Amino acid sequence: MSDEREARRAWFEQACVGLHDRYATLQEGEPASYIPELADVDPDRFAIAAMTVQGERIGVGDCDHEFTIQSISKLLLYGLALETHGRDRVLERVGVAPTGDAFNAIELDDATNRAPNPMVNAGAIAITDMVAGASVDERVETMRALYERYLGRTPTIDRDVWASERETGNRNRAIAYLMLSRGIVDDRVEETLDLYFAQCSVLVTAHDLALIGATIANHGVHPVTAEQVVPREVTRDMLTVALTCGMYDYAGEWAFSVGIPAKSGVGGGILGMLPGVGGIATFSPRLDPIGNSVRGLRVFEELSRHFDLHLFDPDRPWTR
Ligand code: DON
Repeated sequence: MSDEREARRAWFEQACVGLHDRYATLQEGEPASYIPELADVDPDRFAIAAMTVQGERIGVGDCDHEFTIQSISKLLLYGLALETHGRDRVLERVGVAPTGDAFNAIELDDATNRAPNPMVNAGAIAITDMVAGASVDERVETMRALYERYLGRTPTIDRDVWASERETGNRNRAIAYLMLSRGIVDDRVEETLDLYFAQCSVLVTAHDLALIGATIANHGVHPVTAEQVVPREVTRDMLTVALTCGMYDYAGEWAFSVGIPAKSGVGGGILGMLPGVGGIATFSPRLDPIGNSVRGLRVFEELSRHFDLHLFDPDRPWTR
């Protein structure tokens, strides 16, 4: 690494250490509890991780602590659907509208008969329905293989969270059956829901999320193995919906104030992607009422402001 790059890395790391110190005492928000097993986390865990598209890595705090990926999975499965079926077929079922409603809203687009937003539950379940395979086991394998491409290891599914999601997921069931009645999903609804609950229950760390972010930010090329994990043109669509829809009903404020394509999950993770530069991830399970990590929002806001990381910032640095 050149001296200049090393100096930048150290500068960024120092800022992350400072933010970690500052926000580690912030006690606002509560871990998600609408799924009983999700409440069973240490609320004070806190991590900030980053990886550049060249594979340089930093991490502060609990970066190796595992938590469930939850809604961040929606972005990866969206990429898989685009790759497998192409943009037109995906757009027939699911739109790209930042709906501004809660992640579990029961809302379909009557005019187009689609789930409007791919980054909240209805759209994501319709996307999961598109995972190919003759049986549920085969489809779970397809999903696992997707994670494996990003993570470089077989992902572990938290079986207790998976079971808890299945037991308490009646609102998702209602959404899925409504979509069946409208012909948006196929009639293997329980199987698809099981797969959706499994994809949410995959365990990741903050380092994993930073790596996933760096891969997508690197136009789909894994920064360490140089493998093309997801097609180049698909990352454009993934980044676009992350910017417009990735933070639930906070997406507009996020795009305005932070301006980093991102996806959050109720497990406490936020995955941010800086196209051409790298990935940033935070983990802290205390959530605001919308479902975004409170400490995570603060860290991203400050990093964006301090380092001019907003996508449309005229001084956006580090793109070379
Ligand atoms: O209840 C669900 O659908 C979750 N397993 C997904 C959770 C999440 O992170 C918020 N959803 N968009």
